[in-house]
Amino acid sequence: MMPANHSGSVRRVSLHTERLTLRPTNRADADRAFEIQSDWDVTRMLRMARFPPDLDETVGWFAEHEQEWLAGTAYRFAVLREGRMIGLVDIDEVDGGEGDLGYWFEKAGWGQGFAFEAARAVADFAFGALGLTRLRSGHAADNPASGNVLMKLGFRPLSATRRPSRSRGEDILHQSYVLMREESGTR
Ligand SMILES: CC(C)(COP(=O)(O)OP(=O)(O)OC[C@H]1O[C@@H](n2cnc3c(N)ncnc32)[C@H](O)[C@@H]1OP(=O)(O)O)[C@@H](O)C(=O)NCCC(=O)NCCS
Repeated sequence: MMPANHSGSVRRVSLHTERLTLRPTNRADADRAFEIQSDWDVTRMLRMARFPPDLDETVGWFAEHEQEWLAGTAYRFAVLREGRMIGLVDIDEVDGGEGDLGYWFEKAGWGQGFAFEAARAVADFAFGALGLTRLRSGHAADNPASGNVLMKLGFRPLSATRRPSRSRGEDILHQSYVLMREESGTR
């Protein structure tokens, strides 16, 4: 595969899995993301998110994504099921061959394997096209669903530490994980 174009950045490619299309995000995704993050059960699990979400802030965030991709600092994908956005998976904080994996999905889609299917495709992209060697991730200690997604991907639990949660407005216990490329089944 030829991961980079002649300017050195990774092409803005879509990824395809058995049931899902993952396409690089754009600013038009903000309304749908706002709708999904207006559900407290989703956003309480997102440490850096505001609740209730703010539409201007959400639009501003999506407006940065293309530039982040070109700069090589973050790669964010809208997850589409039959053409409709059901969630988002991203790799951000990319630096020194490492990055952070994150994801969130609308509640109606939970429990059907979509998070695992989509996150696996993005982890493969990170270790393959991006050439990263190490992925970090983590979840609130009271979010076993996310822990199961990470364990199924092969992530290893590291430490549990207290960290601020913006959505909850308090410190929470946060469990961190790591996945090395050679442990991931991806080359
Ligand atoms: C966490 C989240 C992404 C999981 O999405 P999902 O599509 O339901 O996950 P999957 O169906 O791919 O499930 C993956 C594994 O987790 C397990 N799982 C799913 N929901 C679970 C739950 N509530 N409790 C325990 N395990 C659960 C599944 O059984 C599956 O394992 P299995 O295949 O061995 O059965 C989804 O609940 C979500 O978006 N939550 C809100 C945002 C969030 O928490 N993001 C992550 C922040 S760290």
